Amino acid sequence: MNLISRSLPEGHIIKTMILEHGFILAMLDELEDLAQKIINAEPAIDEKCLAQINTLSVNIIAADPHNQREEDILFTSLEEKGITGPPMLLRLEHETMRQMKYKLAEMTSAPVQDWINTANKVTSLIYGMCTTFRQHMHKENNVLYSIALEIITDASQWTDMKKMCDRIGYCSFFPEPGWETTHHSVSI
Ligand SMILES: [Fe+2]
Ligand SMILES: [Fe+2]
Repeated sequence: MNLISRSLPEGHIIKTMILEHGFILAMLDELEDLAQKIINAEPAIDEKCLAQINTLSVNIIAADPHNQREEDILFTSLEEKGITGPPMLLRLEHETMRQMKYKLAEMTSAPVQDWINTANKVTSLIYGMCTTFRQHMHKENNVLYSIALEIITDASQWTDMKKMCDRIGYCSFFPEPGWETTHHSVSI
């Protein structure tokens, strides 16, 4: 588990975001494995893999509330304190990531006419997506979240931010609070 995450109380918005990254990273690993499979596979195998890729892309789309909490609550709070550069860059990356994941869902939901062409397009999108998403989450885990914890020192502000995050909601793949005490399989 990430060092920052370990030092934060359960339910802290940054801890939740780091844990959500762990789930997203695990799904990216699965996507990459499937991309490897479809490169040289027969159409019948491709079809199964494409369905699995579609399910994963839909699950990654379910991370939309994560990005919304970051943008509306965390980035905005930093911008109010004069930290504008990193939030601006990360907002732009969110838009790129949004386009990629919706494109992947769309490409893998339609009936396939040309297997080789589709396999090439899907694998290249997955590889691009994995790189972009991993780099983005690395920046947040290792830079932005640290800045936020340094700059926002008032505990009551974090409490208020948590309430606002609760109003936006969480990701469908994220388990109920307390899961960490019984599950340790997700590495971050
Ligand atoms: Fe983000
Ligand atoms: Fe994030």
